[in-house]
Amino acid sequence: MKKTLWLFGNWKMNHGPAAAEKFFSEWKQLRQQPFAAGIQVTLFVPAVSLAAARDAAAKFDSAVRIGAQNAHWEKSGAFTGELSGPLLQEIGVRDVLIGHSERRQFFGETNESVRKRTEGLLEQGFRVTLCIGENRAEREAGKTKQILLEQLGAVFTSSAGNEPAVCSRYLDQRLLIAYEPVWAIGTGLTATPAQAQEAHSWIREFLAEKCGKDAAAKTPILYGGSVNPGNVETLMSQQDIDGALVGGASLKPADWNSLVLGASKVL
Ligand code: 13P
Repeated sequence: MKKTLWLFGNWKMNHGPAAAEKFFSEWKQLRQQPFAAGIQVTLFVPAVSLAAARDAAAKFDSAVRIGAQNAHWEKSGAFTGELSGPLLQEIGVRDVLIGHSERRQFFGETNESVRKRTEGLLEQGFRVTLCIGENRAEREAGKTKQILLEQLGAVFTSSAGNEPAVCSRYLDQRLLIAYEPVWAIGTGLTATPAQAQEAHSWIREFLAEKCGKDAAAKTPILYGGSVNPGNVETLMSQQDIDGALVGGASLKPADWNSLVLGASKVL
């Protein structure tokens, strides 16, 4: 049994403002009762849909948060195409996804830029969901643990070189880690519960070594990669899996509603 379960959806480059409103009105029809206590829902939506989704979510259930899929570490400046913390704060957005593998794979995001984004946005009071994960070649070469530790290690290195400060700034439940094996994203191939649990235990160990057991135990670690209503309960019942980051199955209200219901059984 778990006390809290973090169910996060990532709409990626889907659902404009009208579709976002439709999503919430359809979800409202489907949902028969309020969320079970302990369920935390956030949906990361495209930038143009943030305001519409924020309004629709507020009418649906004030516990649902809306987040951005990326943001810059600087507060303003000549950074065409980027969003900043203050721009998001102005429209009431307090959640950001950072370092998604699609940003790393297709848009040149590096461990260093991921560190800067994470540090800058935590500094500005955002809740950051940091994505890490190995690709297929790395898994097949037996390098999964090494890759995860490299990706985490890069972020947990303060620019000021002060390790304890990084821990106190990072690990107060404003930083969540999402383990998303790249080979499982959008492929229908899910990590087995045992594979996911193993990776999550390495992440928890890293956090404990870096920042102490208490901080590590409090940090939510989410699994992502082809999570659907049929596999969510088994995945969520693993010891070190505290939630899910869901792509495809977060786009349709019917799937998302049954995924939330299915996951709630582990509470
Ligand atoms: P899928 O659930 O579509 O595999 O996507 C996972 C993901 O990338 C969420 O960020």
